[in-house]
Parts: sequence; structure tokens; C-alpha cells
Amino acid sequence: MSRIAYVNGRYRPWREATVHVEDRGYQFSDGVYEVCEVRDGRLVDERRHMARLERSLAALRMPMPMSPAALGVVMRETVRRNRVENGLVYLQVSRGVARRDHAFPRSGTAPAVVVTARTLDNAGNEKLAAAGIGVVTVPDNRWGRPDIKSISLLPNVLAKQAAREQGAREAWFVDREGNVTEGSSSNAWIVTAGGKVVTRAADTAILRGITRDVLLGAIAAQGLSLEERPFTVAEAQAAREAFLSSATQIVMPIIKIDGKPVGDGKPGPVARALRQAFHGHAEVG
Ligand code: PDD
Repeated sequence: MSRIAYVNGRYRPWREATVHVEDRGYQFSDGVYEVCEVRDGRLVDERRHMARLERSLAALRMPMPMSPAALGVVMRETVRRNRVENGLVYLQVSRGVARRDHAFPRSGTAPAVVVTARTLDNAGNEKLAAAGIGVVTVPDNRWGRPDIKSISLLPNVLAKQAAREQGAREAWFVDREGNVTEGSSSNAWIVTAGGKVVTRAADTAILRGITRDVLLGAIAAQGLSLEERPFTVAEAQAAREAFLSSATQIVMPIIKIDGKPVGDGKPGPVARALRQAFHGHAEVG
């Protein structure tokens, strides 16, 4: 089936879905994005993704390109035109097209909006979740505002590539104090020997994941105790369980950190239960 992308007001065939060479997203990574899960053809947690998009844009002093409701219409139409039942929708907003100059272009420059959608391999993801994945650790050398969902992802790209080259699926960033911040495209979690679920507080050092937010509700509903605090790589390796969360992977059990098995080296019951419970706590539009 031929793919369609929304580009600046038009639904274009894949081959013609292009942006201008002086798009500030292309030249400066001057933009933000969202990735939203599509389940049974519907957007998961659209409201929360829109709220985060508004926060990211505000942090970069960019206006919303259109209302959240209008953006929702474009996202759903892109999903529909690509016949995505289970997958993701990607939304990117850049500061628009202007002669290359680092400072902001003149006010009134239209932001550039791109929306794409694609199917994900659900069965493959379920297999991965049943087996668990490995992560490696890398120094967190990102800028000071990973809480903004900016398209400037070079450290994340290099981290993910380092993981792949070591036969792992994800890389965990580690800050100067030796604490795990988050994954290259996911939030990081452990379950301690005492059964406490631990994840870093959503300050400016990590992206406040929508999946993470929803999981906080699932954790409370399951009567689990939660600690929002930093944890070290050694603590994670000695934990009973570890897992990651993101809109595309939901909850993915981690069975190895830098080659060391976590717990008994198999996906743990807390990660499994949270993965199962997740969609009961998410908002499906
Ligand atoms: N990544 N941390 C980082 C650095 C991320 O890139 C992501 C999401 C998350 C989890 O956020 P959420 O639960 O809202 O998906 C945390 C998306 C999926 C991506 O870049 O593809």
C-alpha cells in the first residue's frame, strides 16, 4: 500500500512528501515532535500528547501551528489514509522556512508541520517482551533540557547505535553522579529487592514520558509502592526487575544491563503485569 504524509497543509504521496532545504528543523533541529501510539485505529493518550507538545513548543517560544483539536484531526486522517490499525503516528513541528540565520526568523513565519503514520509489528513486540531485552549504558552527554521533546536527537541516535552494535535494544544514559537518567527513546525503571518500583523524578534531566505518567496510575491501582528518585547502574543490576516505557514499546522488560543479568535473567512479574494493565489506564480516543 502506498504511504501518505501530511506536509504543511497537504496529504502527499510518500515520494513527494518533502520539506524545504531551509526548513529550520532540517538546518538547526529547531523543532519538536510527538510519537503517539495507534491501537485498533485509534490514538492513545492524544490529550496528554497534545499537552506535552504545547509545553515543548512554549519552551522554544514557538506557537501551536493549529489548535490541538485540528492537529488531532490531521493525525487521525493520516492514520486513516495509511490504514494503520496498530502502530504509531509521528508529528513534527519546526520553526518553519527562513533564510539561514541562527536567531529566530521574523514573527509570522509559519511553522512547518509534518505528520506520518506507520504500522508496528505487534507480534514481534510481544515476542520481544516475552523474552526481555538487553540495555547498555552510555554517558549522558545531552544538553540541559531533555524534558523538551526536541527533534535535536544526536546523542540519542549515537546511544541507540552503540546499543545495537553491542547486541542490545536500548541504551541507558548515565549522568555524572553515576545515576541512570533515561533511555535513548524511553524512560527507565527498576523494581528493588523489596518490591518498590523506582523511576527518576520527571525534572529537567529526563523527558516526562506519557507512558510513564499513565504507568504511575497503574502502579497505584495495583497497590505497588513507588519511589521517584535516581538510581545507579549498580543498583539496577542488583534489582529484582528492570524495564523501560515508551509509547511504542509500552512496558518492555529488561533482562540484561551491560551484559549482567537482572534478577533471574527473565522478564519479571511486575513488568509483565504493568504491560498487561497499561491500556486499561490510558485514554483511547
Ligand atoms: N520516544 N525518553 C525519551 C528520550 C524518549 O524519546 C521517549 C519517547 C520517552 C518516553 O516517552 P513516551 O512515553 O511519551 O513515549 C522517554 C519516542 C517513542 C520516540 O522518540 O520514538
